[in-house]
Amino acid sequence: MIIKIALIGLGNVHKRLLKIIDDKKQRIENEYDLTFQIVMIADSTGVAVKEDGYNEKFIIDHKAANKSVKDLPDFIEARTVHDVLKDLDCQLVFESSPVNLKTGEPALSTVKTALSRGISVVLANKGPIVMEFSKLHQLAQQNNAGLAYSATVCGGLPVLNIAKRDMIGADISKIRGVFNGTTNFMLDGMLNGMAYDDALKEAQERGAAEADPSLDVEGWDTAFKLVIIANSMLGANIGLKDVDVNGITNITQQQLETEAAKGNTIKLVASAEDGKYSVKPMVLTKDDFLGQCNGWEMAVEIHTDIYGINYHKLWEREPIPTAASMLRDAVNIFNSK
Ligand SMILES: NC(=O)c1ccc[n+]([C@@H]2O[C@H](COP(=O)([O-])OP(=O)(O)OC[C@H]3O[C@@H](n4cnc5c(N)ncnc54)[C@H](OP(=O)(O)O)[C@@H]3O)[C@@H](O)[C@H]2O)c1
Repeated sequence: MIIKIALIGLGNVHKRLLKIIDDKKQRIENEYDLTFQIVMIADSTGVAVKEDGYNEKFIIDHKAANKSVKDLPDFIEARTVHDVLKDLDCQLVFESSPVNLKTGEPALSTVKTALSRGISVVLANKGPIVMEFSKLHQLAQQNNAGLAYSATVCGGLPVLNIAKRDMIGADISKIRGVFNGTTNFMLDGMLNGMAYDDALKEAQERGAAEADPSLDVEGWDTAFKLVIIANSMLGANIGLKDVDVNGITNITQQQLETEAAKGNTIKLVASAEDGKYSVKPMVLTKDDFLGQCNGWEMAVEIHTDIYGINYHKLWEREPIPTAASMLRDAVNIFNSK
């Protein structure tokens, strides 16, 4: 089956997704009978459409040469992603444009347009699903479209999938986690003598930090993930306003060293328990599971009534696992249709 794709955003995540789609093409065809054909691409300069499909390597090389979508012969002048999607022949949208903390736009409108037309959507961008969780699920269901966003939470760690697929009948009483690799790396880096700015710069160079890194260091990225997790896994129906959010901007090297001397560590911890949701730096002992989540790791702890306490951890230094999660979501959607 050929799946025609609109790829929105050509940054850190989608450049890696393009490479994965190219590298794994034959395997996905053999194992799932799915062929992904990218017929539309978009970056901040606009949209281009090629009905017989783009070559993935060509797009990667085009961006690596510092060129943009507007430099392509198939660039469509004066039309937005939203306009083009209204009548594009495609079955799937991959959305990885920058997150918009206030409105979720322009991605939110794009996602609504796609789902209304029965086009499935896979997100790495958390904005749309944080802003309109119920509405988007309703639209997807009404129009028999897939909607998946496992890449929005802890990169390649299949947190949402574990809860949905592998915890049938569970009541989850508590979730704790370290959900942001950038800040976790920065805290470790600072303890090991790196300056705050140098640690952040390394995270940016690796493509792990948000385009606006204040979203990482002020705790908002973690809060977004907590909202998605709470709504998906706990049926919570919460928004950002329900989360008490503090970041790592006030954490000093001296505090980290003082706690380390006592055998402790400081982590940016997200927690959901008893209807209370918070993101804050916490002093943890080294034998705490989250206290052992170091550097480029992310982790989640899920407390259940019948599946015990589940502990999961991932090492992700650049967003290859995040991009792979988008492939996973896409295959799961079309494999189950
Ligand atoms: N990086 C990670 O580790 C990671 C992990 C999980 C989730 N995410 C999420 O994934 C999304 C993408 O992250 P990223 O690191 O790939 O970001 P990025 O490197 O900043 O790339 C963003 C891409 O979106 C394009 N863009 C900007 N405005 C656009 C618009 N209005 N319409 C279409 N495209 C637009 C940019 O265009 P130009 O190329 O012209 O600048 C760029 O290609 C974000 O929402 C982020 O929160 C990222």
